[in-house]
Amino acid sequence: MRFTSLVALAATAFAAEQGFNYGATFSDGTIKKQADFEREFNSAKNMAGHSFTSARLYTMIQGDTGGVIEAIPAAISTNTSLLLGLWASAGQQTFNNEVTQLGQAVAQYGSAFTDLVVGISVGSEDVYRTTDIGIASNAGTGASPDALIEYVAQVRLAVHDNSLFGKPIGHVDTYNVWTNTSYTQGLIYAVDFLGVDAYPYYENTKSNSIDNAQSIFFADLDAVTAVAAGKPVWITETGWPISGPTENQAVASVQNAETYYKDVACSLFSENVNTWWFTLQDQQPVAPAVIFGLAGAGTPPPTTPLYDVSC
Ligand SMILES: *[C@@H]1O[C@H](CO)[C@@H](O)[C@H](O)[C@H]1NC(C)=O
Ligand SMILES: *[C@@H]1O[C@H](CO)[C@@H](O)[C@H](O)[C@H]1NC(C)=O
Repeated sequence: MRFTSLVALAATAFAAEQGFNYGATFSDGTIKKQADFEREFNSAKNMAGHSFTSARLYTMIQGDTGGVIEAIPAAISTNTSLLLGLWASAGQQTFNNEVTQLGQAVAQYGSAFTDLVVGISVGSEDVYRTTDIGIASNAGTGASPDALIEYVAQVRLAVHDNSLFGKPIGHVDTYNVWTNTSYTQGLIYAVDFLGVDAYPYYENTKSNSIDNAQSIFFADLDAVTAVAAGKPVWITETGWPISGPTENQAVASVQNAETYYKDVACSLFSENVNTWWFTLQDQQPVAPAVIFGLAGAGTPPPTTPLYDVSC
């Protein structure tokens, strides 16, 4: 009996996060307000076929006010868990403001906020943007592993005396950055979790047809797990576009996006891996060149997805 209840407890403790990535702006650069985040979080939660109840953010700063990002009160009002993000590629001064708003969020919202936090990511693909591949892709300004190690230490210090203390502090980067251990070993030692972004669609030096996409993705994940020094590996971004250019053998289509979701998302969910899918909606109000959003365009994001998201 006691054994049974312990097993039940363990199962509860391992209930993994399932959510989407949420940028601070719409695709035309308009800054999202609290009501916009609330519409998105509610649509994700009420999505026909699968409920997504977690949000990964990229910044703590609300662009139009400089205060706490309004995704925080929206997460509280919709009971959405949070993988917080602090932008780490704009230098120390901007990072200081990220840390200030992290502390401000605790002061302003207290445990209603901190109870929802599942982790804090220092940066997003910052190291990737310093690599040859990132530079060739014009990915923008990045940050070195050494700079990120310093930022992680600053966040640890900032939360040591508030109720975010003990929340995992990590970093998000592309799978091939994490496995480039001559560059990233120190960063791996510095973090509590490794967030992995991996897109077989973009891995255009491989035979990346949709038929191979599942095996490419899980090979990427296994390779990171092998260098993770036993630390948790979370999937912070993956997905397959519904439209966009063909990348080697990878064809963007609604059908292939569904296949990828069934092969990858459903496997991750069944294995209880924390997963933030890319993405709920990236085509509002203007369609980007490559579209991943499974909700389709519209306000609020439609809750009838473009393809079946049940598992
Ligand atoms: C909030 O979400 C968590 C996790 O999904 C759930 O356990 C809890 O019951 C929810 N709380 C409310 C008030 O709905
Ligand atoms: C690996 O790290 C080196 C720096 O040590 C960098 O020059 C190179 O571009 C990286 N390769 C990849 C695939 O990230």
